[in-house]
Amino acid sequence: SDQGCAYVAQLVIDRIVAFKPTEERPFVLGLPTGSSPEGVYRRLVEAHKNGLSFRNVVTFNMDEYCGLAPTNDQSYHYFMYHHFFSHVDIPEKNIHILNGQSDNFELECANYEATIASFGGIDLFLAGVGVEGHIAFNEKGSTRDSRTRQVFLDESTIRVNSRFFEDPSQVPRSALSVGVSTVLAAKEVIILAFGFAKAEAVKKTLLDEVSSDCPSTFAREHTNSQLIIDTGSASGL
Ligand code: GLP
Repeated sequence: SDQGCAYVAQLVIDRIVAFKPTEERPFVLGLPTGSSPEGVYRRLVEAHKNGLSFRNVVTFNMDEYCGLAPTNDQSYHYFMYHHFFSHVDIPEKNIHILNGQSDNFELECANYEATIASFGGIDLFLAGVGVEGHIAFNEKGSTRDSRTRQVFLDESTIRVNSRFFEDPSQVPRSALSVGVSTVLAAKEVIILAFGFAKAEAVKKTLLDEVSSDCPSTFAREHTNSQLIIDTGSASGL
């Protein structure tokens, strides 16, 4: 996974460096949370210390739990600032994360899509994959044309994610998440899947029929996508 994270971090750095800062449009990056991308964020912070600037980068996070305050250390807000945003020079106004405490989820999600569109779409979307093949929080059943919306989490996701909470009852039952088509509309998509726990998900992603039964399979329809795996996650192939 270390090599995989190094590869992905370098790819992100290359894209940012290659992007012409004279253009009015900023570089638009879609970002995941989870343990898989931690090594990527660590390297991007390192790159910033060595001179890489994120001033022309605008970010959109994939998802956020409903009901958690940004200060809650299990929220994806907290994760992003802790691992990345607090350590680089990205302007606060460039950071977009769905508000899981909004009192109008529908409006929150519609605004999120509109904001992405106002930047001309996402250049590069990084993603992880859940053990059952979810992408962002697009669980089994999410359609190819799904957009940003409130989603209810599968029992398996609640179980897996409960490792970060004191007990499973504290894991939120729903989240706001970009849709499958929000991800696939990006110009480039990079999915990270590391470790033996992801072996089944990798196998399904690559070999199952492309369908809502395993939303990560939809990534195969993207013409500029990569799945980054390691020895563990490749062990089912
Ligand atoms: C959560 C997130 C997903 C992420 C998945 C895998 O369910 N909503 O976006 O891909 O976890 O996380 P990890 O990288 O920790 O295995």
